[in-house]
Amino acid sequence: MAAVTRAGEPLLVARGLSKSFGRGARRKVAVQGVDLDIHRGDIYVLIGLSGSGKSTVLRMLNRLIDPTTGTVELDGQDLSDLTPKQLREVRNRRISMVFQHFALFPHRTVRENAAYGLRLRGVDKARAWDKADEALSIVGLADWGDAKPSELSGGMKQRVGLARALTTDADVILMDEPFSALDPLIRTEMQDLLVKLAHELGRTVVVVTHDLNEATQLGTHITLLAQGRVAQTGTAVDILTSPADDYVRRFVGEVDRARALKASDVLVPTAQWDQAVPEVTVDPGHTLAQVAARLGRSHGAAVTENGSLLGYVSTESVLSAVAHVEGRVA
Ligand SMILES: Nc1ncnc2c1ncn2[C@@H]1O[C@H](COP(=O)(O)OP(=O)(O)O)[C@@H](O)[C@H]1O
Ligand SMILES: [Mg+2]
Repeated sequence: MAAVTRAGEPLLVARGLSKSFGRGARRKVAVQGVDLDIHRGDIYVLIGLSGSGKSTVLRMLNRLIDPTTGTVELDGQDLSDLTPKQLREVRNRRISMVFQHFALFPHRTVRENAAYGLRLRGVDKARAWDKADEALSIVGLADWGDAKPSELSGGMKQRVGLARALTTDADVILMDEPFSALDPLIRTEMQDLLVKLAHELGRTVVVVTHDLNEATQLGTHITLLAQGRVAQTGTAVDILTSPADDYVRRFVGEVDRARALKASDVLVPTAQWDQAVPEVTVDPGHTLAQVAARLGRSHGAAVTENGSLLGYVSTESVLSAVAHVEGRVA
């Protein structure tokens, strides 16, 4: 399937990526013909069932696994042309994999922990600490830079780990199921923080998950893999509202749309709004569940960001988007 067309040159491009493991009768095709267009600033989610090839695709993006066939290009440079030394550089500085489950160094301060990746890459202390402080303040830990990890709660430690993962100069950050071990409450908080950090620090992230709610929470773009092939690529809204085939339709059948869709997804531009101006206001990033909770008896809400009016959402469109289930009339 052709990748979604978007304006601008993609940063990271995969074409026809395939991977087979083993030989002869034991040969197993793990990934077949995967195309991806990852743009700067994307949170690009690879989702699929266990064994669908997500980790293999992710690892081919920085050639931790060599593709059997197909290419990966970063800024137009084919990674298969690189010498081993150049490849190490690319992995360190340009397409870096976050491995840890956010474990911190106990004897270093929170700031040193957050700055760790940059220091490892030889960035001078002042700059690394500035970057670390910026990330710590985004995750709500501005006052904790001098503390030791042992002074923090479990959830706070997770936030430091996330800040550290995103405090990097790498063009692309690869994360394989980063939140799968977390309990649900911390997990939701971490998903929100990843979106915020990536946005405010201008990071490009490729995240693997098997959880559709997580995918729709995080992903600016989502590729659903099925048995090593792309079943569909699109935004969360594309995949939820226009599934490409029965497989995708079944896969997305169970998603919690109220959490997956945001006010910005059902926004009506000001010029096209023909109802009375509602008194309720919401943010574009509010989920429809959050919007619904604020609507009360109002017929709609104004969507504002930093004091400026972006448009409106109608109560009717919010409710029908939440209730929309393929094959069932809302
Ligand atoms: N090193 C390997 N050797 C043999 N088979 C592998 C190897 N890595 C992955 N596979 C197989 O490739 C398929 C895709 O695996 P993987 O990419 O890990 O899937 P996912 O991350 O979606 O669970 C699976 O069937 C898996 O068993
Ligand atoms: Mg995996």
